[in-house]
Amino acid sequence: MNRIAVFTSGGDAPGMNACIRAVTRAALANNIQVYGIMRGYQGMIDGEIISMDSRSVSNIVQRGGTILKAARSKEFLSKEGRDKAYEHLKKHDINCIVAIGGDGTFSGAEVFTNEHPDIKIVGIPGTIDNDLAGTDFTLGFDTALNTVVDAVDKIKDTAASHDRCFLIEVMGRDSGCIALWAAVAGGAEMVMLPEKAMSVEDLVHTLETAKKNKKSSTIVIVAEGEKNGGAQAIAAKMKEHIQDYETKVTVLGHIQRGGKPSAFDRILAARLGVHAVEQLMSGQTKVMVGIRSNAIALTPFAQATKSHDPLDEKLFSIANTLSI
Ligand code: F6P
Repeated sequence: MNRIAVFTSGGDAPGMNACIRAVTRAALANNIQVYGIMRGYQGMIDGEIISMDSRSVSNIVQRGGTILKAARSKEFLSKEGRDKAYEHLKKHDINCIVAIGGDGTFSGAEVFTNEHPDIKIVGIPGTIDNDLAGTDFTLGFDTALNTVVDAVDKIKDTAASHDRCFLIEVMGRDSGCIALWAAVAGGAEMVMLPEKAMSVEDLVHTLETAKKNKKSSTIVIVAEGEKNGGAQAIAAKMKEHIQDYETKVTVLGHIQRGGKPSAFDRILAARLGVHAVEQLMSGQTKVMVGIRSNAIALTPFAQATKSHDPLDEKLFSIANTLSI
């Protein structure tokens, strides 16, 4: 192996740049030529492939976003698109790839490597959602969590000043990981998760109990994938049940995806990037390099994308215990 390519795909996540840097420099240290594929699978199809050297990744360890850009490619879902991508890789003599992304990225890599077994792909979990089976942490989760907690702290100040209830909606797609961790770290009164059936009636009951317990303001963290339709829909339904409570909604949105990566995400990026290159050098393919109990863990793509790790029930019970 003397050529390797790296790309970022799906939604961007803080720490992707630090990981591109780690992959590039680990490969160069082993005398492997490095290429960057722009815009994920779409850039592979369009032949947007650039040569990288040590200076291409200077001064990016601290930057959010991804210098290689990210995209969700519809064209790659078709065999024709994937064949075009294969031709471009062959033109550059690339047969080893590090793919940084989430479940869509790894599902694509699984299909692609089944069709073209001469291309080896190792994945690195890069998504703020922390929703991949086989890794305790995905790149970007820690930074996004800190962004959310910082926002919750600020909203708590104004909520307390005005005796209000705030519903704060956070990202995570169909995973409640960001929401649950933010609820514990932010001291929320309640958290609404996709993994738990929770009705607006349950929420109203919790808020009434909080009031009886002399809480004059409350924070509810709402995961975007929860089953009542999100924070706006919950606020509308709440009005039918309680009128004497002023409720405000804040949807944090894409602010959660930006910003400089935390030290934790940078170190995770360094470890996963270097290990991914080492795995490719030892002939591995179709696996995600993740982290389990602070040790590197390999999970086949098929398994990493099949399901999430289950919700941390103990943490959920801690969130409830501490919110009285
Ligand atoms: O997967 C990361 C994520 O930020 C999810 O939390 C969210 O549901 C989705 O991407 C938003 O995607 P887009 O930026 O394409 O709107």
